[in-house]
Amino acid sequence: CGQETRVIPRVLQFRYQWLKSDKESLRLEQAGVSKSVLDSANAAYILEIIAKHGEPAPRLCNKDPLLIKMGTYIVDLFPNAKFIFMTRDGRATVHSIISRQVTITGFDLSSYRQCLKKWNRAAEAMNLQCRELGSSKCLRVPYEQLVLHPREWMEKVLKFVDVPWNESVLHHQDFINKGISLSK
Ligand SMILES: *[C@@H]1O[C@H](CO)[C@@H](O)[C@H](O)[C@H]1NC(C)=O
Repeated sequence: CGQETRVIPRVLQFRYQWLKSDKESLRLEQAGVSKSVLDSANAAYILEIIAKHGEPAPRLCNKDPLLIKMGTYIVDLFPNAKFIFMTRDGRATVHSIISRQVTITGFDLSSYRQCLKKWNRAAEAMNLQCRELGSSKCLRVPYEQLVLHPREWMEKVLKFVDVPWNESVLHHQDFINKGISLSK
């Protein structure tokens, strides 16, 4: 899966802004930049980034955290795509963001209350997308459950993505920077 790309959610955000404005949509349409042109350009861009930001692989994967907010659109572009929606208690998530000073657009790292509200809104939007995608395309994985019962949950995850079981998934720490790269 590799590091977060950061650029993929932003490109999707551009599209959302263009479509949100009627005036801009009309101008684009008049200029021949139709929805289908934008969609195929976005799909090509996303695929290029995902395929080339890591070693070549038979299966492609992306872990930009907020991407599932645009889940149904991604599935329009990539009909075989599946989502693993990992949730974690908002208090622990926000504590992690604030104590490690992880900058996230829109999050005020000096306020637990503001971050919790933001987290709540983001989690809600992602949850709605996951529900809309349905259980064949979106699997919810509670982080705390994964930590407590790794075998049981990794079996579910691999089954969901049609990958055969391999014991090494229970020893991911041995593979970091030896096949698995993470954001610094
Ligand atoms: C399990 O994963 C390890 C590490 O990637 C790999 O070396 C091994 O060949 C895999 N085993 C099977 C049966 O696929």
